[in-house]
Amino acid sequence: MVYVIIRKAKASDKNMVLEFCKTTFSWGDYIGDVWNYWIREGNLLVLIENNIPVAICHSSFFDRQVWIEGIRVNENFRKKGFAKELVLKSESIAKNKNCVISKMLIETNNKKSLNLADYLNYKKEETWNFYSLIPKKSYKKPKVTVAIKNTKIINLLLSNSSSYVKSWKWIPLTKPNIVSLINEQRILYTTHDDKINALVIFTESEHFEKTLMLTLISNSVNGSENIITYFQNYAIDNNIKRIQILTKTIKLPKNENLDKKFSFCLMKKEI
Ligand SMILES: CC(C)(COP(=O)(O)OP(=O)(O)OC[C@H]1O[C@@H](n2cnc3c(N)ncnc32)[C@H](O)[C@@H]1OP(=O)(O)O)[C@@H](O)C(=O)NCCC(=O)NCCS
Repeated sequence: MVYVIIRKAKASDKNMVLEFCKTTFSWGDYIGDVWNYWIREGNLLVLIENNIPVAICHSSFFDRQVWIEGIRVNENFRKKGFAKELVLKSESIAKNKNCVISKMLIETNNKKSLNLADYLNYKKEETWNFYSLIPKKSYKKPKVTVAIKNTKIINLLLSNSSSYVKSWKWIPLTKPNIVSLINEQRILYTTHDDKINALVIFTESEHFEKTLMLTLISNSVNGSENIITYFQNYAIDNNIKRIQILTKTIKLPKNENLDKKFSFCLMKKEI
């Protein structure tokens, strides 16, 4: 008889899980880099078939939103409904924690996962683009202003983005979260004719060393260019090795150090 359970992952599951995650994507996988953090956080689920871990799924909880990520099913155990079971279990845990929204990120070409999300009644909320930017010293010193707490900036953010990105989690951009980010001086902007034309929230990755993550909101190629140059310089001055830009903006300036990697669908469901 086949015996299937879902339980919290244990440190001892690591080797077996990483073994089937080695070749998830063409570039490999990141599960090995985050495994210890996820185990410590305690919200990593593993599906066990006949005593063997064959699938995983991680959740984080922000305000009343659950963020679901890292769904992986061993290739030999796919199409048995295991991913669906893990997501449904994560949603049910989230509901018990008073979450009302569930979100996840799926690469626009990942048909299997998009099908899975569709089956589970997730809808696309936004499309986000991922760029990597190489740090570089520039003689240009664009004028960038640190945001202070004012209604204009808070409203601009609230009306332009549902979320900001921290460690590859899309975190709700609520008023209290914006105020915290302003207090931490994590929001910068540029202006043209006294109007804000680009705005950025920057955080450092908790999982990858010396990696800066920028959530860029911009309606101007010039504004984006100024933010990009500013952070290329900032990275050199602060020993940052990698800059990752996440943005809904479609048109970024041409820059030989800026490389468009992937586009993602931010998927949302009311639970
Ligand atoms: C995407 C992924 C997680 C799906 O895992 P899975 O366990 O195969 O998913 P499920 O079994 O729940 O559903 C997949 C399909 O199997 C079918 N299925 C489910 N139970 C079944 C059963 N008992 N018999 C036959 N088919 C079944 C479903 O109808 C579904 O079909 P569809 O794709 O046509 O909609 C898996 O392919 C994977 O690990 N991919 C690589 C990592 C990845 O992309 N992760 C997600 C990143 S966002």
